[in-house]
Formats: sequence, C-alpha cells, structure tokens
Amino acid sequence: MSGSRLLGSGSALPRRVVTNEELAATVDTSDEWIVERTGIRQRYIAGEGETTASLATDAARAALADCGLEPGDIDLIVLATATPDNTFPATATKVQHALGCNGGIAFDVAAVCSGFLYALSVADSMLRSGMARRALVIGAETFSRILDWEDRTTCVLFGDGSGAVVLEAAGERAGDAPAGVLATRLHADGAQHDLLYVDGGPSTTRTVGHLRMKGREVFRHAVVNLSEVLGEVLEQAKVSVDEIDWVVPHQANRRILDATAKKLGIPPEKVIVTVDVHANTSAASVPLAFDTARRDGRIGPGDLVMFEAMGGGFTWGASLVRL
Ligand code: UT7
Repeated sequence: MSGSRLLGSGSALPRRVVTNEELAATVDTSDEWIVERTGIRQRYIAGEGETTASLATDAARAALADCGLEPGDIDLIVLATATPDNTFPATATKVQHALGCNGGIAFDVAAVCSGFLYALSVADSMLRSGMARRALVIGAETFSRILDWEDRTTCVLFGDGSGAVVLEAAGERAGDAPAGVLATRLHADGAQHDLLYVDGGPSTTRTVGHLRMKGREVFRHAVVNLSEVLGEVLEQAKVSVDEIDWVVPHQANRRILDATAKKLGIPPEKVIVTVDVHANTSAASVPLAFDTARRDGRIGPGDLVMFEAMGGGFTWGASLVRL
C-alpha cells in the first residue's frame, strides 16, 4: 500500500453547554478574564449517560455516514483518550461493540492533547503495512470528570467532546494524485511531566486523580514546539507554507493559535478556530475542529490540511493531509 486516504469525518458533543458566566457563579473567575486570556466563551460538559465511549461512538457513526460506509467495513479502531471509560479494557473495544463490528483490531492511544495525531499516525502506518484496510481514528474525552472544579486556573479551560475520521488504505479507490496522510512528525519529552499531569492513577494512588497544570510554562513551550514541528512536517513533505490551505490546530488557547500562526507566517484566516465554543477538549479537539470546518463548507476536497497538537507528557506533533 502506498498510503492512506481520509474518506470522512464526524463529531459529537454532550447535550449541555456551560457558559463562562455560569462558571463564574461557582468559581472566582469572570467571562472577561476567560475570553481575554483564552478566547473560550463556552464548553460542552457530559451529563448522565454520556461517557467517552458514547461520545466516541456517536462521532464514529457520523464519520461512517459521511462517507457512506457501514461499521462492518471497519477493521481497525484507534481511539485517543486520556479519560477512558474504565482503566481497562480499552474504550476502543466498547466503541467497536457499540458499532457492532467486533473481530477487527481496537485499542486506545494515550498521548493526551496530541492523542489524535499519535492515533492518526499509528492507523496510517498499520494501513500502509497491510494489517488493516479501513480505520476509524477517534479522539474522545470527558475531561470534566478529571477537573478540580475548585481550581480556577484549570477548570475554566476544558470541555468534553469527540471527533472521528475514516481512513482507507490507498489504492482501493480511484485517484492517482498524492492524497491522504502525506507526512507526520511526533515528539515527546518526559522531562516536562510536572508541567501538565494528572495527580492520580491505578498504579500510584489507586485513584483517578485531577488534572494539574502550570499554564504559563506550558504556553511558552507550546508555541516553540508547535512552530518547530510544523516546519519539520513541511520539510518532510517538501511543501511550502503558502501551499497549506488550512491549519487545524489543537484548541487550547486562542493566543497560542495566533502566536504559532504568526511565527510561521500563516494568515489567521487559514487557521480553524473552535476554542471559543468547544474550549480545550484534549484529544478530541483536532478532529472536532476539522469536522466542524468540513461541515460548514470551509475545508473541502483536494485541500491541503495541517493538523497539529501539543499536550501533557509533553507530547506534540503535526501531520499534513491532502483530502
Ligand atoms: O492542552 C494542553 C496544553 N495546554 C495549554 O496549552 C494551556 C497553555 N496555557 C494557557 O493557555 C495559559 O497560560 C492560561 C490560560 C492557562 C493562563 O493564562 P496566563 O495569561 O498565562 O495567566 P497566568 O497563569 O499568568 O495568570 C495570570 C493571573 C494570575 O493572577 P496573579 O498571580 O497575576 O495575581 C492567576 O491567579 O490570572 C489569575 N487567574 C485567573 N483569574 C481569573 C488564573 N486563572 C484565572 C481565572 N479567572 N480562571
């Protein structure tokens, strides 16, 4: 196989929207502070019956419908999440069962906010190697369940949601032009663990724990790391920055999106921004933003799209995809 093509996308959000004003009623914060420092105006928060697996399943169904495929056409599910339904089994197996396509490969990838980039890369590699033919690559999170709702420095920043794409091993459908996943670069730096982590886990505290972040330091690393990795992907793909039609970044903070784009000379109108409505949905953020922009007609067939993300670990990466 020469590569993998992206056939469709879908996304899902919890029913409940929580505005900044609503948060300001219970935490010492304000709509003004949150909008000015992050660009976030609201977020979706999972309620009764809504879990990472249920949101992921809804996004997967929407992605399959988008490209006219059935669950039975899928033989690989890679799900990126830091908030699985259970410590084990993998949430991907719950999604597989809910979709009714048992028997293929299904597993989770843990790379926090960069999870979708890692999952996309793993799925692309498995399709290229011939281990599978069609993959669902999903980013799904319920970060609301690991937030410390008394910590105003973190609880205002995150939301819940899910996004999915369908990838197919190239060569199964007509079309000769280079398309699909063209180049990917991934990185991790475990030395930065303490800047963004969860203070619990099965093997340490035997609890789920809460998210802890030194936001200002994460911000500083994010702009540098993302600019570098975008440059690496462009070099690997032998593509100039002007050829990119759309950048779909991880939606952590409007100021990070603006600063990274400026550093690379990417016009702001080419950057998809959904942080205002979704807030930071970790691994779900890139596919959620991508699906939003495909459905509103901005991103279309033939477009050259750059995905990028950075998060806990640290992990970061970027991937260039031709639709
Ligand atoms: O998705 C994974 C990657 N994560 C990120 O990329 C997050 C990166 N970091 C950020 O987005 C930003 O650093 C934050 C949005 C987290 C914070 O913005 P900042 O401009 O770096 O603010 P700061 O942390 O320097 O805090 C400024 C002030 C502090 O008060 P003092 O010490 O100056 O008196 C904070 O206590 O703002 C205060 N503050 C708040 N005030 C009102 C912090 N959180 C809040 C809040 N409401 N929610």
